[in-house]
Amino acid sequence: MKTTAAVLHEVGKPLEIEELELAAPGEGEVLIRYTHAGLCHSDLHVATGQIQGWLPMVLGHEGAGVVEDVGPAVTRVAPGDHVVCSFIPSCGTCHWCATGQQALCDTGANTMRGFLPGGSWPISGARGRYGAMCMLGTFSQYGVIHQHSAVRIDPDLPLDVATLVGCGVPTGWGSATNAADVRPGDVVIVYGVGGIGINAVQGARSAGGRAVVAVDPVAFKRETALTLGATHACATADEAHRLAQELTRGVGADEAIITTDGVTADTVAAAFDAVGKSGTVVLTAMGGFADRTISLPGTVATLWKKTVKGSLFGDCNPTSDIPRLLELYRTGHLKLDELITRRYRLEEVNQGYEDLLAGRNIRGVVVHEHA
Ligand SMILES: NC(=O)c1ccc[n+]([C@@H]2O[C@H](COP(=O)([O-])OP(=O)(O)OC[C@H]3O[C@@H](n4cnc5c(N)ncnc54)[C@H](O)[C@@H]3O)[C@@H](O)[C@H]2O)c1
Ligand SMILES: [Zn+2]
Ligand SMILES: [Zn+2]
Repeated sequence: MKTTAAVLHEVGKPLEIEELELAAPGEGEVLIRYTHAGLCHSDLHVATGQIQGWLPMVLGHEGAGVVEDVGPAVTRVAPGDHVVCSFIPSCGTCHWCATGQQALCDTGANTMRGFLPGGSWPISGARGRYGAMCMLGTFSQYGVIHQHSAVRIDPDLPLDVATLVGCGVPTGWGSATNAADVRPGDVVIVYGVGGIGINAVQGARSAGGRAVVAVDPVAFKRETALTLGATHACATADEAHRLAQELTRGVGADEAIITTDGVTADTVAAAFDAVGKSGTVVLTAMGGFADRTISLPGTVATLWKKTVKGSLFGDCNPTSDIPRLLELYRTGHLKLDELITRRYRLEEVNQGYEDLLAGRNIRGVVVHEHA
């Protein structure tokens, strides 16, 4: 069948809208009609070459939609099911899945190589084989994905906000509740209020943070953070440091979470300095693979027992946490409608990324159209 998609052909160039051929779902695979796709910064890291992937590649790794058809041996979903796509598949049986660490599922190792977990390449076009970002490629009307990437959700849930629970929401929320392990009474700093950071703010507050300091140079981001759980907002890391000192009588913050659009040694050092004894710094933001983004006084880490740790997918387990987060949305404990700043047609995806870079969006969402 045919599908129209936004494709990255060359690093540094805008995405091109193109009609592509989609193969029927093979063993363990699912044909999905994407209804929405979220604009996460990670796609931009691929577009700028900081993260390398197979090219040409259909970008987009936040997505939700409806299952249209299934291949042989599919048990997790059935035609008609509403699903959220997880940007990391969960096979259920590798060491990591079996020990409750689905975010580290071994099949995730190939997410940027273009093909699906079983090795197939369902997308083709004028330039031969086309890859799919994170084994999804949600900037497409239709996709063939592995069932391990599809998480069934209740059909009454709105698919536009459910889309965000495929990456930004669990990544941010879990960075606070799992990775930073925010406890009641803690003082937390979140650096960068985009689609990830805003959910770290929500998670930190929900976990009982008595003060949640949101740092972002963009005024609109700070204002939004204050409406969704931040108790304080400031433009610079220096101000956040001073605030954390004031709020803790000089002890320092309990946790600092880095969700900026890139990660620099300066931001990591600022976060390391802002947390007090036994404090934790969580690195959720990403940059280039080879970039040396940590340069810290190790003896201070030793004597002050500080922890610096990375976090992928907010240390979440997609098959249980995606439905769990949507229940929190349903009961009003997690805000999702407020996260969508603008909606775009697929043809406007480059404009969506310009708006993201200009600081105009918490999250932009592509609304797919089908004939
Ligand atoms: N670890 C994971 O599992 C995971 C998953 C998804 C995304 N990410 C990464 O998380 C990062 C954030 O993604 P996003 O979609 O929220 O991006 P975004 O562009 O929507 O948000 C980033 C925010 O950081 C702010 N910012 C920039 N420099 C800053 C600074 N020095 N101090 C404070 N704020 C600053 C920007 O103004 C912006 O509001 C990206 O690097 C992305 O690749 C990681
Ligand atoms: Zn993402
Ligand atoms: Zn696994």
